[in-house]
Amino acid sequence: MKTALTELLGIDIPLIQGAMAWISDARLVAAVANAGATGVIAAGGLTAGELSSQIRKAKTLTDKPFGVNVMLMAPNKEEIVEVICAEYVAFVTLGGGDPVPYIKRLQASGSKVIPVVPNVKLAQKMEVEGADAIIVEGMEAGGHIGKITTIALMTQVIPHVNLPVVVAGGIVDGRGMAAALTMGAVGVQMGTRFMVAEECSVHPKAKEMLIAAKDTDSVVTGWTCKYTARSLKNALTTKLQQLEIEGGKATEQEIKRLILGAGKKGMIDGDTEWGMIMCGQSLYPITKIESAKTIINTIVDEVKQAINKATALIL
Ligand SMILES: Cc1cc2nc3c(=O)[nH]c(=O)nc-3n(C[C@H](O)[C@H](O)[C@H](O)COP(=O)(O)O)c2cc1C
Repeated sequence: MKTALTELLGIDIPLIQGAMAWISDARLVAAVANAGATGVIAAGGLTAGELSSQIRKAKTLTDKPFGVNVMLMAPNKEEIVEVICAEYVAFVTLGGGDPVPYIKRLQASGSKVIPVVPNVKLAQKMEVEGADAIIVEGMEAGGHIGKITTIALMTQVIPHVNLPVVVAGGIVDGRGMAAALTMGAVGVQMGTRFMVAEECSVHPKAKEMLIAAKDTDSVVTGWTCKYTARSLKNALTTKLQQLEIEGGKATEQEIKRLILGAGKKGMIDGDTEWGMIMCGQSLYPITKIESAKTIINTIVDEVKQAINKATALIL
C-alpha cells in the first residue's frame, strides 16, 4: 500500500500501533515494525532513563522506523523530549497538552512530528505550526479521549487541512481501515487491537477479558478530574460512576486516588476488577491472541477485500 503516510515514514503499510501507556514497549513496537506497519513506544509513565533503554532495545529488535509518544501532561516531558532528540526516532506523536513548543525542536533532531488533535481548529493550527501530519482520535478510542466521534472528525478535519491525516478510534479491522482511507485519511492508528498481540505485555487475565468483551462493555469515567478515559466495565468503573454521576459529590482528589496507578494495576498486574483496562468501543472483532504479524496481515487482507467490494459498487 502506498499513501502519504507510508512515504512520510518509510513504511509499507499505513497503520500505526498507537502509544499505550505501560504496555506499548520495545518488544511490541519492534514486532509491529518488522511486520511492515509501525509502532509507538509510550513514554507516559516512564523515566527519561527508562525511555532511553526502550528506544535502544527497540533498535536492537528492528531496523525499521518506529516512533515515541510524549504525554504533554507528564511532569518530566522536558527530559523525555531531550532523550528523544538525543536518541533519534523516526517520528514523535504528541498529545495531552500544547505540542507547539516541541514541534521545531523535535524536527531539528530528525524526527517527523505528528500531534494528536481533537478538532478542526487545532488541526489547522498544527498545519500553521509546521507539523508533518496529524492524528485525529475519536471518542470511540481506548485511553484518554475527546468528545467527537471518529466519523465526525474524519468528515470535518480531512477537508479542512492540507496535512496528511491519520485516523484513530474504534478502528480494529481492515473494514474500518478501508473506510478511513476511503474518507481521505492517509492511514489509521489502532490501540485496542494490539492489546491482544502475543508480543504485548498486557496480563493474560486482561487479554481474556478483552476477548470476552462485547460492544457495550466499555465505559468512560474520570470526568471529575479531567482524566477522562474509556475502559472495560468492572468494579472500579462502577464505583467511579457512582461517585461521579449518581452521587455526584466526589471530589477531584477522591477520584484521582482511585484512578492513579489503576492502568498498571489492571493491564500489567491483572487486577481486572479494581484496575483499569483501557480499550476502545470496537470489541467484538477482538477474538484471539495472535502475533502482531498475523494481526497486521489479516488487516491488510481485509482492507484489500473491502476496497475491492467498494470499487465493485460503481462498476
Ligand atoms: C491501553 C491504552 C493506553 C493508551 N495510552 C496512550 C498514551 O499513552 N498516549 C496516547 O497518545 N494515546 C494513548 N492511547 C490511545 C492509542 O494510542 C490509540 O490512539 C487508541 O487506542 C485508538 O483507539 P482504539 O483503541 O479504538 O484502537 C491509549 C490507548 C489504550 C487502549
